[in-house]
Amino acid sequence: MSHDLVIANGTVATASDMFSADIGIRDGRVAQIGGDMGSAARTIDATGRYVLPGGIDSHVHIAQPSGPGIEMADDFDSATRSAAFGGNTMVMPFCLQERGDSLAATFRDYRAQAEGRSHVDVGFHLIVTDPTPSVLGQELPALIEEGHRSVKVFMTYEALRMDDAEILATMDVARRHGAKVLVHCENEDVIAFLARRAEQAGDMAPRAHATTRPVAAEREATHRALTLAEVVDVPIVIVHVSNGAAMEEIARARMRGLDITAETCPQYLMLEGEDLSRENWEGAKFVCSPPPRNRTEQENCWRGLQTGLFDLFSSDHCPFRYADDKGKRNPKGLRSFRHIPNGIPGVETRLPILFSEGVMKGRIDLPRFVALTATNHARAYGLYPRKGTIAVGSDADIAIWDPGIRRTIQHADLHDGSDYTPYEGLEVQGRPETVLLRGRPIIEDGQMVSKCQGAIVERHEGL
Ligand code: URP
Ligand code: ZN
Ligand code: ZN
Repeated sequence: MSHDLVIANGTVATASDMFSADIGIRDGRVAQIGGDMGSAARTIDATGRYVLPGGIDSHVHIAQPSGPGIEMADDFDSATRSAAFGGNTMVMPFCLQERGDSLAATFRDYRAQAEGRSHVDVGFHLIVTDPTPSVLGQELPALIEEGHRSVKVFMTYEALRMDDAEILATMDVARRHGAKVLVHCENEDVIAFLARRAEQAGDMAPRAHATTRPVAAEREATHRALTLAEVVDVPIVIVHVSNGAAMEEIARARMRGLDITAETCPQYLMLEGEDLSRENWEGAKFVCSPPPRNRTEQENCWRGLQTGLFDLFSSDHCPFRYADDKGKRNPKGLRSFRHIPNGIPGVETRLPILFSEGVMKGRIDLPRFVALTATNHARAYGLYPRKGTIAVGSDADIAIWDPGIRRTIQHADLHDGSDYTPYEGLEVQGRPETVLLRGRPIIEDGQMVSKCQGAIVERHEGL
């Protein structure tokens, strides 16, 4: 047999196994694993390296409208370049319907922004904020049937949230047309009450973002979202879980037989609410929702990654610039935490952090790393086994990791459009050296070697 590319002498890991084998790639797919590879147009020697499925980051925000005067720091070019350098071969951003807008027209606009400008493959989630009869009756069903089989709804953010009746109606359409529903679980009325009280007390600094979004607000909303999904009988994804109480709600609902996918993110392992107290408004760099919590909750989230409570480890990459009046230090945001845009960059640091803190420190093994960062994302969103694994017939989306490289994370070395990383100064071990997208190198020896080969991926198989 002849191959376009052979990856030789590496240690291959999937979500279930680790083994030594050469990988033969032809026409963008894995054609052979192990055995006599025959001839190859090119061979990459992966001695001493791990050969892993490319990361799938199924929770990123790119070029998303973020309120008057605020600009997200990434477009599809910069976000997907950063994703590729971080060992990813696919990202799943959101297509956010603003109130009053058509969901279908919004989707066409996002798609046009992504096409020809993405360095890795892209699959879209939809966000419904305005469930009008035409959105629920025509636009959402048509988009789901076109292959965009996941819909996010918000229980918080005044401009985006829906009430329970609207969420139920949206879930019902998702169930009938074969989509999953992702829910941002925080109780907006609790947050608005606490935020008003903080402002009245003159408590305006970034730290108040965390104190006004307590665990109880997330736990209650998680319980409610699960209850709504149970009533409608729709598969649900609880995104960006930050704490043990919300995890308990998920575990209990699973015992009742609900189809739940659960996600956590690096910020809930590595950051704390106290980071928002940093001086000179630097705390704004850590403002995201739900907020980072404390050491105990970090341990709870690690436990959830180890035990399988969490299926997905995603970045929730949502970048704003810090030193920018369209970003974290916008004029209103400098007066009150309520106007600091929510979200932090992380698409490039997600995998190195979990590899180093998880695999290298012995908290999880390599197959679990693969499951949490690639395979489970593909399974959850209807992409498996085309994506998320190394198997004969799968897309040859592969990251080759050198586990020996130690480095210090610094924003100067990253490729997103923000001007900081919340993980500045963190020492990590292990780096994705070479990244292949459908068999073609996009990163080699830490350099980008091919541009904008990313495709928009639809999901027709149902969920
Ligand atoms: O603060 C965050 N997480 N911003 C991104 C939007 C979201 O809620 O996922
Ligand atoms: Zn969210
Ligand atoms: Zn998000």
